[in-house]
Amino acid sequence: MYSIPIMRPKLPSADRLAPYLKSIDASRLYSNFGPLAVSLEDRLAENYGLDEGTVATVANATLGLAIALMVQQPPPGTLCVMPAWTFVASAHAAVMAGLTPYFVDVDHETWAIDANKLLDEITRAPAPVGAIMPVMPFGLPLDVAAWEAFRSRTGLAVVIDAAAAFDSLVPSAVPSVVSLHATKPLGAGEGGFIMSTDASIRQAVWMRANFGFAGTRQAQTVAFNAKLSEYQAAVGHAALDEWDQVRAEWSNAAKEYRHALRGSNHVRLQQGFGETWISSTCLLSFAQPAADRIEQSLADCGIEARRWWGAGAHAHPATSSFPRVVVPVTDALARSTLAVPFYREINATEINRVVEVVLAAAEVGL
Ligand SMILES: Cc1ncc(COP(=O)(O)O)c(C=O)c1O
Repeated sequence: MYSIPIMRPKLPSADRLAPYLKSIDASRLYSNFGPLAVSLEDRLAENYGLDEGTVATVANATLGLAIALMVQQPPPGTLCVMPAWTFVASAHAAVMAGLTPYFVDVDHETWAIDANKLLDEITRAPAPVGAIMPVMPFGLPLDVAAWEAFRSRTGLAVVIDAAAAFDSLVPSAVPSVVSLHATKPLGAGEGGFIMSTDASIRQAVWMRANFGFAGTRQAQTVAFNAKLSEYQAAVGHAALDEWDQVRAEWSNAAKEYRHALRGSNHVRLQQGFGETWISSTCLLSFAQPAADRIEQSLADCGIEARRWWGAGAHAHPATSSFPRVVVPVTDALARSTLAVPFYREINATEINRVVEVVLAAAEVGL
């Protein structure tokens, strides 16, 4: 057991859920785009300043990513270009959508793939490219307009993996997928949503999330069951009710880390973390490839840390045979970044202790 754990997820209390659960008792509707799922979609759209009809809920972001690819109908068997620096779910989703992941490297500043540099990558790809999946790493803001322009210019399917980016995602026509997993900033236990300013997307998503049905019980297309149940939607509503407070808590915890790390040249937070955007994961990056050593020092002091994306999405037994280019930036990030304890009620004493151990370990050998 760690005295300071990496995370302590906290979803809305039973009291906060009660009104929504009672409404389920009354409606006796438990799934299939019931009133809570649909009203959650409307509230999520409103949260981003969008009209109704621009958000579709799904059972989780992994299925949401697969569906968001499928609705754009990339040619089956083509490559889906994605960063090696992502969670393995991005790759699973591409495979579920009938595509082959093609891992490329990320920019060392943004930790993301760059729309302006991707055309070269596509020309060099070992097979036809049908789709692109940019990822917002741990919620770091992305140049969404550049991807919108890329999509219009190339006609390729583009899906933004915004799993951790509930707070920082900027709406666009490009379908973007947010996770509502318990470990994410807005948690519903499991769940997710797809957002696009193109209102035709929602109907297409609903069909792919509901056995291919569209008004009749005739399957129009190959599909999943990826619907958000009314119980999950109830948690989503209660989480939205308390979002302002929850966001302030994430922001305060992030600011505490920023304060504790001030003046260090060796350890950095993600750009703007806790200032212009919040996340439920706190990533530190080190001037040296010292993540293993720092993780060990923290463990020795009873503090949990995590190499969140391991060696990268390309480095799993399930994904290592997929095509890729050499990924030196991803390799370096895997060795020089570490997630440290981060939860809403983490206090200054805990943060100072984490930072003290990190700084001492990061400075060894400098
Ligand atoms: C980058 C990324 N993509 C996809 C997912 C999958 O989300 P979900 O757990 O909702 O399926 C995650 C989850 O952590 C993620 O971090």
